Amino acid sequence: MRNIRLVSLLLVAALLLAGCAQVATQPAPAPDGLSGEIAIGAVWSLTGAAAIYGPSQKQAAEMAVEEINKAGLLGKATIKLITEDDRSTKEGAIAAFEKLINQDKVIAIFGPTLSNSAKAADPIAQEKKVVVLATSNTAAGIVEIGDFIFRNSLPEASVIPNTIKMTKAKLGYKRVAVLYGDDDAFTKSGYDAFKAALDAEGIEILTTETFKKGDTDFSAQLTKIKGLNPEAIVVSALAEEAAGIMSQGRQLGIPDSVRFIGGNGFNSPKLAQLAGAAAEGAISGAAWFVNSDAPGNQDFVKAYNAKYGANPDQFAAQAYAAVYIMASAIKNAGKAEGQAIRDTLAQVKDADTVLGKFSFAASRDPVHAPIVQVVKDGKFDLFK
Ligand code: ALA
Repeated sequence: MRNIRLVSLLLVAALLLAGCAQVATQPAPAPDGLSGEIAIGAVWSLTGAAAIYGPSQKQAAEMAVEEINKAGLLGKATIKLITEDDRSTKEGAIAAFEKLINQDKVIAIFGPTLSNSAKAADPIAQEKKVVVLATSNTAAGIVEIGDFIFRNSLPEASVIPNTIKMTKAKLGYKRVAVLYGDDDAFTKSGYDAFKAALDAEGIEILTTETFKKGDTDFSAQLTKIKGLNPEAIVVSALAEEAAGIMSQGRQLGIPDSVRFIGGNGFNSPKLAQLAGAAAEGAISGAAWFVNSDAPGNQDFVKAYNAKYGANPDQFAAQAYAAVYIMASAIKNAGKAEGQAIRDTLAQVKDADTVLGKFSFAASRDPVHAPIVQVVKDGKFDLFK
């Protein structure tokens, strides 16, 4: 009798728990305060020096908005995404932010693609209390612009120490050459992070060479580097310049065993398309991997492929995740109002995204684990 009572008590407890679990996983209904079209801006580099990244960000963000609107995630409200091209310039980003804020009255902005442009344009949004969720800015000094500025892109400072540690352990290099763009916020910040990580690991830097955005001839720097016989070449560059550096380095006879190691600028499939065989073996720190089993990631990869005929890249994944993160913040705020959305966005913790479990730190920087990837047969593979 006692046993039967115990079993039934356990049964009741199990049923109650099951009920709770179901309630917790069912999407909560969208609050009544939301209706109509919610205007959100997106500022991507669709032309210019960073046009390698912008189009995949645009495609992924648009796909996420379509999915969210179709699923009725915001109840009676839908998201209206207004996209602007910043032409990869500060001036373009400033003009886009001013138009989106003053004319389109957006409540939030995704982007801009480059940290260099974010540093110029984000203060405009901060001043007007419009939330910015950057999806690819990885330089230092972005969220510090103000309390309305967030990013879901892991900064170089959180990715590069791991890249250097892992590659040093596996490849065993002790002497490297460094090459970086000294006129761009991201490439400069990447250089600072590499320098600190190389120093921390006790790796000797044989020379530090620089270039400017848009340069196409790197032969002087690479000839000097070749003469010093480094065991690896650390490059902080956007993809187009990085591809040129790799191609010319191999043409000058720097052997394949001397790997190119870089940061977030490398993480576009266009790198291998532009540099061809010269990109083989290139290593980079990244925030996302195409084969990751993060919740929803394989569905995202499949849907992106079906819609656009190619795999998404890290820039696409971050833009896609950002739209979902923003939508859930709007839903939790229950109103399309800047301060309320800023506050609910700041509370995002352990959210399931295609980037993995995602949280914002108190600084509004993202918290999730970085990876290291390597170009193998023209595609990214995990560096192990
Ligand atoms: N990660 C690059 C930047 O921050 C695109 O500018």
